[in-house]
Amino acid sequence: MQAKDRIIVALDVDTKDEALALVKNLKDYVGAFKVGMQLYNSIGPEIVKLINDLGGKVFVDLKFHDIPNTVAAAGRVMTRLNCFMFNVHAAGGKEMMSTLAKAISEEADKLGSHAPVSLAVTVLTSISQNELEKEMLIKNIELKELVVKWALMAQESGITGVVCSPQEITAVRQACGPGFKIVTPGIRPAWSAKNDQKRITTPRQALDMGADYMVIGRPITRAQNPIEAAQKIIDELEA
Ligand code: C5P
Repeated sequence: MQAKDRIIVALDVDTKDEALALVKNLKDYVGAFKVGMQLYNSIGPEIVKLINDLGGKVFVDLKFHDIPNTVAAAGRVMTRLNCFMFNVHAAGGKEMMSTLAKAISEEADKLGSHAPVSLAVTVLTSISQNELEKEMLIKNIELKELVVKWALMAQESGITGVVCSPQEITAVRQACGPGFKIVTPGIRPAWSAKNDQKRITTPRQALDMGADYMVIGRPITRAQNPIEAAQKIIDELEA
C-alpha cells in the first residue's frame, strides 16, 4: 500500500459543495474520504456516488447497530452503493457481525464486485472505565481488555478490521495478527493544532504501532493549503 492510501480524510461538513470541493482538491493525495452522520444525513446516499464519480473512495461511518437481519440488509445497501468501507458496533454481537459479513460477500458476488471493507467499532473512545462499570454495567474487565476481546469477536465473525484509538493499536494488532485492518482517528502531525482531540498520536507513530489507515480531518481540511498538509503527512509516513 502506498503512504497516501493510508490517509482517510474526514469530511465533517454539511454541504455537498464543501465536501466535493475537498474531494476534487485532495483525491490524488489521499486514499479515501470519510462520510459520517453529519454529511450522510444532510445529503443522503447520493454523496457516496458523487464522491465515487470524482474518483474518490468512501468510508461510510454510520456505525450500524441493530438486529442481524437489519444490519445485514444495510450492509447489502453499502455494497450496492460501492462504498469502500463502512462500520458497525461490535456491541451488536457475533451473530449480527457474521450475518453481515456473509450478506456483503453474497451481495458482492451477485454484482460481480468486491465486498466493502467492514469495520467494527469496539468501545467508543468517549466511554470511560467508570461509565462502562456504572452505566453500562460491564464490570470486572479493563476497558482495553474489552476492546481486544471485541476486536477478536469481530475477527471471528468475518469482519475485516476495527476502528480503534491509537492507544489500542498495539494490543489489537498483537491479538488479531497482521491481516486484520486497523483504522485509527486521533491523529495529529507534530505541526498541527490538537483541536478537541485529547490523546493524540502522530501519523508516523500510528503507522509504527501497526495502524493500516488513519482518519485525519482538521489538520488537512482546515489547513491553509490542504494539499500541502496531505503531502507533509505522506512524507512523514514515507520517511
Ligand atoms: O478533525 P479530526 O482529525 O479530529 O477528525 C477526526 C474524525 O474521526 C472525526 O470525524 C471524528 O468524529 C472521528 N473520530 C474521532 N475519535 C474517535 C472516533 C471517531 O476523532 N474515537
